[in-house]
Amino acid sequence: MTVDKRVSSPQHSYSDGGLKRLLIDGRFVDATSGRTFDSLNPATGELLARVSEGDANDIDLAVAAARRAFNDGRWSEMKPFDRQTILSRFADLVEERHDEIARMDTLDMGMPLSRTMGNRRRSVGMMRFYAGLTTTLRGDTIENSIPGDYFTYTLKEPVGVVGAIIPWNNPHIAFIWKVGAALAAGCTVVLKPAEEASLSALLLGELLLEAGLPDGVVNVVPGVGEVAGAALAAHPDVDKIAFTGSTATGQAILRASAGNLKRVTLELGGKSPNIVFADADLDQAVAGAALAAFANSGQVCSAGTRLFIERRIYDDFLERVAEFTRGLSVGNGLNDGVQLGPVVSKTQLDRVVNYFAVGRDEGATVLVGGERLVEGELANGYFVAPTIFSDVRDDMRVAREEIFGPVVSAIAFDDVDDLIARANATSFGLGSGVWTQNVAKAHRFAKAIRAGSVWINCYNLMDPAVPFGGYKMSGYGREGGVQHLDEFLETKAVWIKTS
Ligand code: NAI
Ligand code: MG
Repeated sequence: MTVDKRVSSPQHSYSDGGLKRLLIDGRFVDATSGRTFDSLNPATGELLARVSEGDANDIDLAVAAARRAFNDGRWSEMKPFDRQTILSRFADLVEERHDEIARMDTLDMGMPLSRTMGNRRRSVGMMRFYAGLTTTLRGDTIENSIPGDYFTYTLKEPVGVVGAIIPWNNPHIAFIWKVGAALAAGCTVVLKPAEEASLSALLLGELLLEAGLPDGVVNVVPGVGEVAGAALAAHPDVDKIAFTGSTATGQAILRASAGNLKRVTLELGGKSPNIVFADADLDQAVAGAALAAFANSGQVCSAGTRLFIERRIYDDFLERVAEFTRGLSVGNGLNDGVQLGPVVSKTQLDRVVNYFAVGRDEGATVLVGGERLVEGELANGYFVAPTIFSDVRDDMRVAREEIFGPVVSAIAFDDVDDLIARANATSFGLGSGVWTQNVAKAHRFAKAIRAGSVWINCYNLMDPAVPFGGYKMSGYGREGGVQHLDEFLETKAVWIKTS
């Protein structure tokens, strides 16, 4: 790994250290408590902005605004064409302002600019996809068998007020992913961004207003998860929660949702297997194995963090992955050529560094990395070296628990039947990868793996039209794809006696 020691200073209107406020009912307002929290650049520790800290009172105000906006039909009863026009305008604004939005996320949570900028096609494409779905809403006419003349059909109706709770690991994409589908379905939204990276959500809220979205249709309330997030999850007037984040918080949200039986979709953690067979195109698999785990400094829910390697190539292949890893450039994400930025926060840093000790204590070998990076000014940020643990056994914590840092656990395998069982021996089921040139083997694995996505000879590809989501404790519900709309719709059956 090479360490990039250049330290850039922030350059963004949202990063002037000033106060950014809550968006409620079409206006930017202070938190009712007057409280604020600091948003820091994880690469430098510098203050980017102070952010109004919403609590249960602000959530109440935002939910009331979203409820009024839903009930009076200013959005849900607007003609699909007109909703589409507004959402398309928003997509255009996201495209125009994309560099700025990307830079903001890089400053706020550390993801290298190459990656945030590279997300242009994805974020703009996603918003255009959801804008397109607006005019596809439809029910069915259904033949029934009741004696006499009865006509039956279904109406698809927006579920109502949606609470969207998003994490910090891909902030502006997460915003569009959640809000785009909810708006296409005709819902209104209260979104709580992650406290580590709230800024792009507030800017996108501003752009929605500029695009002509009526007041109150999308409200953005930054705040602490256990306070503002919990209030939203428990709120009796919220009809649905769409959540992305940790499995433990997903469980808390599910419990909180019981009061009014709100609908819930959950996109949670993972410990995804990435399997390399000896018959793979190994040149491609080397980079694939490393980047599946290290991209975005490992802060990706579907990261391929259990690297299964066929035993007869284990040592040679892993040495090549180690060599590739040593060549990765780690530093401030604003700098050209940097491939891995810091992790998002001191908490996340401590969590990852702790796993270095856990892995060593369990008897895993650190092949590369295994330490915090503190050279020069990197010491002010939260940098860790991309890390490969070898000699990992399935029962070790580093093979079972989501670390959410640039850490991969390499595990040898011999037998294919046994491998399927081992790959599936996890409470998670989000992503998976298979590297082989054998078509039969590829399809066999695609079917056998209990996970929402299987990538064959590639990893972590995402597209607006392709559904994404989890099996088992990685959550439920699918985001992306035409079925994403269904997560925000109720189905009503209508019966008419026609004679
Ligand atoms: P988290 O799941 O606690 O936070 C995600 C979002 O939920 C944030 O907006 C947070 O404010 C909110 N939240 C927290 N507690 C809440 C509650 N009781 N009720 C409602 N909302 C709440 O994740 P956190 O603490 O940022 O990271 C901890 C670990 O979670 C990471 O190390 C990683 O393993 C995992 N994680 C997984 C993500 C994924 O994409 N699947 C994203 C972020 C974290
Ligand atoms: Mg948390």
